Amino acid sequence: MTAFDPPTRSATRNIVILISGAGSNMQAIVDAAEREGWHQRLGVRVAAVISNKAQAPGIEQAQRAGLHTEVIEPPQFQSREAFDAALMRGIDRHAPALVVLAGFMRILTPGFVRHYQGRLVNIHPSLLPAFAGLHTHRRAIEAGCRVAGATVHLVTAELDHGPILAQAVVPVLPEDTEHSLAARVLTQEHLVYPQAIRGWLERPHSF
Ligand code: GAR
Repeated sequence: MTAFDPPTRSATRNIVILISGAGSNMQAIVDAAEREGWHQRLGVRVAAVISNKAQAPGIEQAQRAGLHTEVIEPPQFQSREAFDAALMRGIDRHAPALVVLAGFMRILTPGFVRHYQGRLVNIHPSLLPAFAGLHTHRRAIEAGCRVAGATVHLVTAELDHGPILAQAVVPVLPEDTEHSLAARVLTQEHLVYPQAIRGWLERPHSF
């Protein structure tokens, strides 16, 4: 094998997607995988969608799409560590090449982040490093930003930090409310997240 040979793609590589809510990013990823033939071209499939909320509309959507789903809810556990350990067991059953946080609204324990280091990605609805944390759109409007957007990044121990894989930028319009800006950003999230994931999966080191 020379340095230029493509990596061998023997086994299927699994993606596990974690959600807490509507699951529109999850759906965008599932749609892109289907449309772009990730399974045939990259040997990749979405193996499971896991939610920390039984009522998350995204779970029903994933079931309708024929995906394996699971709900693991925090109240069943005594501590954040115990919940994350159960979540890790649920995820690791699928031996994922990549774990995708798609609107998964939980602060992760350092042990969880370490366990998936280099194969855990997140989308955050701001142009990081600006506006880590919550209420990103409101804060961008209040700060008088002329642009806003979303960031896809590898997850590290610090909340909403880590190497940036991709960003999408949208204008902030004078008449924008938190709601209208969020909707404009979300439309771009649906494009940039699948694209960034595919880019990561195409990298030789991800095999
Ligand atoms: C998305 O806007 C995503 O960027 C955000 O939650 C929304 C989930 O929507 N994530 C975060 O705020 C994480 N810090 P979805 O459930 O329709 O994909």
